[in-house]
Amino acid sequence: MRPKVFVSRIIPEAGLKLVREACDAEVWPDVMPPPYEVLTEKVKMVDGMLCTLNDRIDAALIEAAGSQFKIFSQMAVGYDNINAKAAHARGILIGNTPGVLTDATADIAFALLLAAARRIVEGMEYIREGKWRTWEPLALLGADLSGATLGIIGLGRIGEAVARRAKGFDMRIIAYSPSKKAEDVAKLGIELVSLDELLQQSDFVSIHVPLNDQTRGMINADALGKMKPTAILINTARGPIVDQEALIEAAKNGTIGGAALDVTTPEPLPSDHPLLYLPNVTVVPHIGSASQRTRDKMATMAAENLIAGVNGQPIPNQVKPS
Ligand code: NAP
Ligand code: GLV
Repeated sequence: MRPKVFVSRIIPEAGLKLVREACDAEVWPDVMPPPYEVLTEKVKMVDGMLCTLNDRIDAALIEAAGSQFKIFSQMAVGYDNINAKAAHARGILIGNTPGVLTDATADIAFALLLAAARRIVEGMEYIREGKWRTWEPLALLGADLSGATLGIIGLGRIGEAVARRAKGFDMRIIAYSPSKKAEDVAKLGIELVSLDELLQQSDFVSIHVPLNDQTRGMINADALGKMKPTAILINTARGPIVDQEALIEAAKNGTIGGAALDVTTPEPLPSDHPLLYLPNVTVVPHIGSASQRTRDKMATMAAENLIAGVNGQPIPNQVKPS
């Protein structure tokens, strides 16, 4: 009998085709994610689920899963929406899609950095508002990248890829990543520092840690207060790593120079949210991995994890029990 699976969104055909060839697949047809109650019903019946970061897979949902259920295959690298401890306690596998989205996400982090430094969004607004009357020696002056210090919080796959991009712009790169060794990162031209040193020295701070109990609220009012008044905060990791109310205050009162965000709290951000109306804050709607090639690869990897998992085989990319 073919394994039964639930795919919680319409994903790129590259992955969907593999799932349909190998499994009896039900695909949630809506643009919006399935309600929690639907997920709860599905885990009682299927052998595995291909899910996204929108799906809340908490302890209660995992508890509801039938004994046949084998795998949550997440089409993302971050899996903070899944209670991994509860899944692993029941012997349920978790798959994710590391690596294939590293460059695309680093590109967005760097695009945000450049956009904020050189006031790209403000510039467009300036034209729309009819303010562009001549070439102005004093208008829309931004920050230079060359010689500036970039502080990377979390020097993993994406953090390193951002550092490689920054090298090309002649930036000085420092990082806070406790498990890394100074001699290893020195080869990449990166200096390891404490979090306080990073916040105090950086002209740009870019966040690349996973969201977990240690990193939730890591960038709070106290941390923002340690940053330079000209510094720009870039977050492409997860919204709750930053205390967003504190960030709004800091961007408004000049504690920091500004921010550029791919991730927010909540997601989606309501269109009247105050964060969207600060001239020194740029926000994009969680598009870090949103390139055609990257999404095809993520869908393929998530499909391969799902198919292996429901067939009782080792999965190519497994989130290991910690
Ligand atoms: P990764 O390779 O696991 O890198 C994460 C790094 O953070 C690791 O080096 C890790 O150190 C470090 N770290 C963990 N906890 C830390 C802490 N408390 N303080 C300082 N450093 C810490 O993951 P990745 O592939 O680069 O992805 C990073 C995150 O980016 C994902 O978890 C996801 O939330 C986010 N993301 C967002 C998008 C988007 O669309 N915006 C796309 C992809 C990923 P260890 O090596 O010691 O664990
Ligand atoms: C996207 O946010 C991911 O974690 O892959």
